[in-house]
Amino acid sequence: METINIIHSPKYVNQKVRIGVWVSNKRSSGKIAFLELRDGTAFFQGVVLKNDIGEEKFKEATELRQETSLYVTGEIHEDSRSKFGYEIQIEDFEVVGESNDYPITPKEHGIDFLLDHRHLWLRSSKPNALMKIRSEVIHACYDFFYSREFTKFDAPILTGSAPEGTTELFETDYFGQNAYLSQTGQLYGEAGAMALGKIFTFGPTFRAEKSKTRRHLTEFWQIEPEMAWYHQDESLELQEQFVAYLVQSVIDNCPQELEVIGRDVDTLKKYTQLPYPRISYDDAISLLQDNGFDVKWGIDFGSPEETFLANHFDKPVFVMNYPKDIKAFYMQPHPTRDDLVICADLLAPEGYGEIIGGSERSADYDYIVGRLKETGQDLSNYTWYLDLLKYGPVPHSGFGMGLERFLTWITHEDHLRENIPFPRMLHRLEP
Ligand code: 4AD
Ligand code: MG
Repeated sequence: METINIIHSPKYVNQKVRIGVWVSNKRSSGKIAFLELRDGTAFFQGVVLKNDIGEEKFKEATELRQETSLYVTGEIHEDSRSKFGYEIQIEDFEVVGESNDYPITPKEHGIDFLLDHRHLWLRSSKPNALMKIRSEVIHACYDFFYSREFTKFDAPILTGSAPEGTTELFETDYFGQNAYLSQTGQLYGEAGAMALGKIFTFGPTFRAEKSKTRRHLTEFWQIEPEMAWYHQDESLELQEQFVAYLVQSVIDNCPQELEVIGRDVDTLKKYTQLPYPRISYDDAISLLQDNGFDVKWGIDFGSPEETFLANHFDKPVFVMNYPKDIKAFYMQPHPTRDDLVICADLLAPEGYGEIIGGSERSADYDYIVGRLKETGQDLSNYTWYLDLLKYGPVPHSGFGMGLERFLTWITHEDHLRENIPFPRMLHRLEP
């Protein structure tokens, strides 16, 4: 008899198998008990018949508590009434680990309670589906960039600089010297691009933002490709291909998970159609003003503005070339407008806002030194970065996508917190 995973049930119809499972729910009547079982790969039903298994074992089955772990043996049958389509007719079971008073019961719990029990909540069907979609998207990110001859390039997490602004830094003591948890892998990615051509970093990044919005985590995962020789238009094309590829991968490889979370697949399909619309920052301001927003040229968009813009186009939209004053020091200045930089944010529809921020980078030593000074940075933290501009600088562009921002949009969640295993937020460091 083979030991299998639930997900492989279709290959074992009418065969006897053994499966290691947890009991996630159960119901029973006088002669029959239904155990909802999970093993991580899927959820399905185990049927226990008193007549098959005997009085004593049947009683044991009806008394199994939620999250008890078991080995079950029995025959796999088709079960047309369930979504999964298969069940196991249990002939015997053996308890492996007891579980008493499991805190997350099938009734409704508040979000704070669930987050406090995140280490257990991950076992439930919705978190399970969200984590599988996350894993699929991570896989697709690697596939996308490897198939385009990018090299994966890891940026350090402990750093000495603050490229995305000095107000959002986690500071730590590094043997008597100040160090910060990295806000972005980008500057190191630029060094990588000058060495390897096309690279992507993919790792945790940190923002000490004291904001409690549904779009912010203090620790989030960022994919940051950086391409030597690319100008911004080539980078924008890559970005939209990337996003469409990720959406298609989820549609193709996570149909069950999308069903569990109730995400409409036809809506997702719209987002695989390229190109995505593009609008300049200037035009975005006019469009907002024409639609009753009280916005002045020079502001950064907040959530209501971003929501309006993306919904207006009903697709992800690139907002291009923002004012220099509200963007980071490294961006390439606009050739004819010295108040603008060559950059774009990709805004997702349905109220999800910015999922990608990117730009062409300036390769001009003097310009960058000037911008570092203007933005109040300590030049001595950037000695190595400035070297990149001294020794054969070339045009280059890159972008950063927040993994949880992307996922929250694709899964249509209200808040980023359910799309990362253990969210870190303003008031949450546990579990
Ligand atoms: O726009 P940001 O700050 O850009 C950078 O860090 C650049 N260095 C990227 C680059 O060009 N290599 O952040 C990039 C993306 C955002 O578009 C958003 O998706 C995500 O990172 N992000 C956050 N996600 C969750 N929580 C936060 N607090 C985030 N801040 C940014
Ligand atoms: Mg940004």
